[in-house]
Amino acid sequence: MRDRVSDALVEKLSEFVSSEIGLFFPRERWGDLERGIGHAAQDWGFEDKTSCIQWLLSTPLSEDHLETLIGRLTIGETYFFRDKKTLQALEDLILPGLIRLRRGKEAMLRIWSAGCCTGEEPYSIAMIVDRMIPCLRDWNIRILGSDINGGFLEKAKRGVYTKWSFRHAPPWVMGEYFTTVGKDRFEISQSIKSMVEFRQLNLMKDSYPSPDSGILEMDVIFCRNVLMYFSTDSGSLVVSHLFESLAEEGWLIVSPSEVAYVAHPDLRSVRFPGAFLFRKKRADDDIEEDAGENHAAPKEDPCMDVLALYNEGRYEAVVERITEVLSQASGSNSTSNPGFLALLAKAYANQGKLDEARKWCERAIEEDRSYPGHYYLTATVCQEQGRFDESRKFLNQALYLDQGFVLAHFLLGHLARIQGKSKQSRKHLKNALDLLVCMGPGEILPYSDGMIAAKMAEMIQTMIREEHHA
Ligand SMILES: C[S@@+](CC[C@H](N)C(=O)[O-])C[C@H]1O[C@@H](n2cnc3c(N)ncnc32)[C@H](O)[C@@H]1O
Repeated sequence: MRDRVSDALVEKLSEFVSSEIGLFFPRERWGDLERGIGHAAQDWGFEDKTSCIQWLLSTPLSEDHLETLIGRLTIGETYFFRDKKTLQALEDLILPGLIRLRRGKEAMLRIWSAGCCTGEEPYSIAMIVDRMIPCLRDWNIRILGSDINGGFLEKAKRGVYTKWSFRHAPPWVMGEYFTTVGKDRFEISQSIKSMVEFRQLNLMKDSYPSPDSGILEMDVIFCRNVLMYFSTDSGSLVVSHLFESLAEEGWLIVSPSEVAYVAHPDLRSVRFPGAFLFRKKRADDDIEEDAGENHAAPKEDPCMDVLALYNEGRYEAVVERITEVLSQASGSNSTSNPGFLALLAKAYANQGKLDEARKWCERAIEEDRSYPGHYYLTATVCQEQGRFDESRKFLNQALYLDQGFVLAHFLLGHLARIQGKSKQSRKHLKNALDLLVCMGPGEILPYSDGMIAAKMAEMIQTMIREEHHA
C-alpha cells in the first residue's frame, strides 16, 4: 500500500498503539509503524492505510483485531544462544550459586524469559540448566517464556526451527537437542520442550507479579531486547514490575542498550565481562544508604571488581580483595560464592603459590560440587605440583559431570604424554579433537580463560604430529 499517511494521523496512531497495546513508536520509528499498519490493513481488506487507521481509531478493537495488530507491529528477531557472554554469566556465576543454595530440600529454580519471541531464548536457558544439573528429576524447575504476540508463542510451542535460528549457536546445540524433521526444519527434543512453559503476557498492560500466572518469586528474569521498544517512562514502569516479580537476591538481565532503563534503588548492578546483570538487594542490605537516597543509579557490586583486577593480571590485589570480602562474609556467617573461591585459587596459582591455590580449589569444590570447572582447576594445580595421579582423578571427575569438557580431555592427553603413555595420550587427544570439530573455529572453549577452538585444535594436532615423529 503506497498511500501517504499524514504525520498528524501517524502521531494519533502512535498514541493509540501506546495507550491501547503498550507498544512504543517514537517519531524515529514511524516508518516501522506505517509498514506494520499497511500489512494489517491488507489483512483486514482495506484499500489504503489512511482509511484503516481512521477505522481503527474510531472502533472498539476485538480480540482478533488486537492479535493481528500485535502480530504486525512486533519484531521477531531472536536466535539460539543470542549474546553468549550473558549466557556464560548464567552458567558461570548465577546458576552455580543458585544450585548450591537450593540443592537438597528446596531444590527449585524459577527463570522467566519476558519477551521471549519464538522461544529460542527460554529454550537456550533450558539447555544450559539441563547441562548443569545432572539429576533434573530431583529438581522442581520452572522456565517461563512470555510474549505479547500469540503467533510467536504458537511457534515457540511447536519448537520447530530453521537453520537461521542457529546462526550463532554452538554446534552442540543442534547436535544434542534437535532432530531433523524436514528440509531445513529441526525440532527441539521433548526433554527440553517439557522444561519450558509459554504464556501470553503484555508487559505494559497485564498485571504481574501475580500468583495466578505463577509470575512471582523469580530467581532470574531475562528481559533482553524488549525494553528498548518502550518509552523511558514505560520501560521504567516495566522494570519496577519485573523487580517486584523477583525473589530476594534474584537476578534481572537486560541487553547492553537497555541498561539505562534499570534505575531502581534496590537493584544493584553486578559486573560480569560482557553481560549486564542486576541483582535485587536483600531486605536488610544497605539500609542506611537507602534511607538517604531516592532513585539513585544502580550500584555496582564491589565484589565484581576483582574480575577486572584479575583480567589485568593484578593477582596480589585479587588475593587481597577477595580475602577481605571473605573475612566480612565469615563475620556475617554467609556462605561464599564458589566463583570467587576459584578466582582466588587462580590468583594464587598465577603467583606460583600452589599450596594456597590447592586449598582454595578444594573450598570451591566444597561450595559447589556440581561445577566441572572447579575439578579442572584443581587438576591443573595438582599437575603443576607434579601430583599426576591426583590430577587425573580430578579430570575424570570433571568429565563425569561434563563429557564434552574439551580441556579436561586435552589435559588427560597431556598427562599421559609426559608419563610416556603414548597410546593413552592419543586416545584422550582424539576425544578432544572429536569435540572440537563440532565447534566453530572462533568459539571460546567452556571453562577456559578465552581460548578459542581453532587454537586448541592446532595445539593438539602439533602434539600428535610430534608424537608421530618421535
Ligand atoms: C526482539 S524480540 C527479543 C526476543 C528475545 N528476548 C531475545 O533477546 O532474543 C522482542 C520481543 O518483545 C516482544 N514484546 C514487545 N512488546 C511487548 C510487550 N508490551 N509485552 C510483551 N512482549 C513484548 C515482541 O513481541 C518480541 O517478541
